[in-house]
Amino acid sequence: MGAAVPAAARRLLALTLCLAAGAAQPDGRAPGRKVLPPPSNLHYSFGLLCKLKWTWNPPEGISSGCDLKYCTDMLIDGIPRGNGECTRNLFREEDMSLNEEVHFKVRSECTFENISEPSDWVEISTPPKGAAGTDAVAINCIWHNLEYVVCTWLPGPNASASTNYTLYYWYEGMGNPQQCQNYIYKDDFGCIFNFSIPNSTYMYPSISILIRDNSEEIRPVCINKNPTTIVKPGPPRNVTISKIDNELNIEWQKPSTFPSTCLAYQVELKDSKSNSTKQHEVKHSTNFQFPSVHPNTIYIVKVRAMLEVVCYSSNLWSDWSEEKSIGEKTDFSIYTVLILTVPLIVAVATVILLMYLKRLKILIYPQIPDPRKIIKRMFGEQNEDSLNCSGDDFLNVCIPDKEEIHYLVCIENPESSTSENKDQKCPALQVKAM
Ligand SMILES: *[C@@H]1O[C@H](CO)[C@@H](O)[C@H](O)[C@H]1NC(C)=O
Ligand SMILES: *[C@@H]1O[C@H](CO)[C@@H](O)[C@H](O)[C@H]1NC(C)=O
Ligand SMILES: *[C@@H]1O[C@H](CO)[C@@H](O)[C@H](O)[C@H]1NC(C)=O
Repeated sequence: MGAAVPAAARRLLALTLCLAAGAAQPDGRAPGRKVLPPPSNLHYSFGLLCKLKWTWNPPEGISSGCDLKYCTDMLIDGIPRGNGECTRNLFREEDMSLNEEVHFKVRSECTFENISEPSDWVEISTPPKGAAGTDAVAINCIWHNLEYVVCTWLPGPNASASTNYTLYYWYEGMGNPQQCQNYIYKDDFGCIFNFSIPNSTYMYPSISILIRDNSEEIRPVCINKNPTTIVKPGPPRNVTISKIDNELNIEWQKPSTFPSTCLAYQVELKDSKSNSTKQHEVKHSTNFQFPSVHPNTIYIVKVRAMLEVVCYSSNLWSDWSEEKSIGEKTDFSIYTVLILTVPLIVAVATVILLMYLKRLKILIYPQIPDPRKIIKRMFGEQNEDSLNCSGDDFLNVCIPDKEEIHYLVCIENPESSTSENKDQKCPALQVKAM
């Protein structure tokens, strides 16, 4: 089929394609529509503290039918932030962090007319001041109890050790920016300033905080905060704990400056029996009852507060209140130690006392020599038997065999008895011994 197309027809087709391509605009605009002229004289300026403001002049030669507006957009460090907008204003002002490059662009458009095409973009870049890596980092600001703000930060990695960062703050309705006066030099840098706005409404102005150094080398950095997102309530006050009928009753006072309907609490209960901690959530109310209290157990309680989302969109807990405890505990380990050590101490003391008494006795009554021992030494060990046998019952104890009985009885009896008894007694004994 392709081969069948005549050469003339092919040439015509190519020419048509060429013409069509030439007529089309490079950016794909339809041909034949009028392109608006762009705004002129775009430039930027730094406004109060963190604000960056761009201004421009209207384009020349706009037809009366055009409802002209200016559409703007920006790239921050090369990244679009999706904050394009179209207005009739000849300026745009935004809170910027000032430590990033902002690439701003604007063009003119006609709102209700589709004959004209939007103009080309006019662009301008705002490079950050100072050297990279010298701006303060890890900036953290907390609004304590709606009374004062504490901001902390760390020096930038490329900042010299002598950098003196200074903090300035500003919010809508305060006039000129203020320089913070109460600096903290601890683990990190910081500054404290009063910030209290009558809370007739919950509409708090956004607060701008700029941290910079007087040196041109140091890059400034700005943060903009909705203060309701950085509120931290003070801790609950005057925590009391009492035991009523086997039930713990914990009460406290709300942190001042907040309506009670804006507050929720967390009660932490630690008991010595299970040695575990349990947390209980309490809304609005400033007391909590804990049932089933065990005897012989110590309960330790602390409370902290948090703000309700309906009032403040902050999720910062207050610090914990001071700890309060109730209950008694008999410490069995101490008893065990006592049971083991007391007898031991008594025993040792007794031994020492006995030894001491014995030494005392020796001193008071010197040892008297035993006459029996002296005699024993004099006569030697052989005589021991005969000495012992001088008792009455020698028959039973001292005589080892019957032959000796016979012998002894016959010798002894004639000495102690009459001649009459001699004849009667000895033969009788002799018979008995035989
Ligand atoms: C835009 O132009 C088309 C014709 O090109 C027309 O039909 C349409 O109504 C116009 N729309 C507006 C909003 O003017
Ligand atoms: C610190 O300075 C060097 C050289 O000027 C630069 O390359 C580096 O990116 C800087 N560090 C940071 C964190 O910006
Ligand atoms: C920073 O402040 C201290 C005391 O306030 C001063 O001695 C020092 O010179 C300052 N450093 C710079 C770089 O300005």
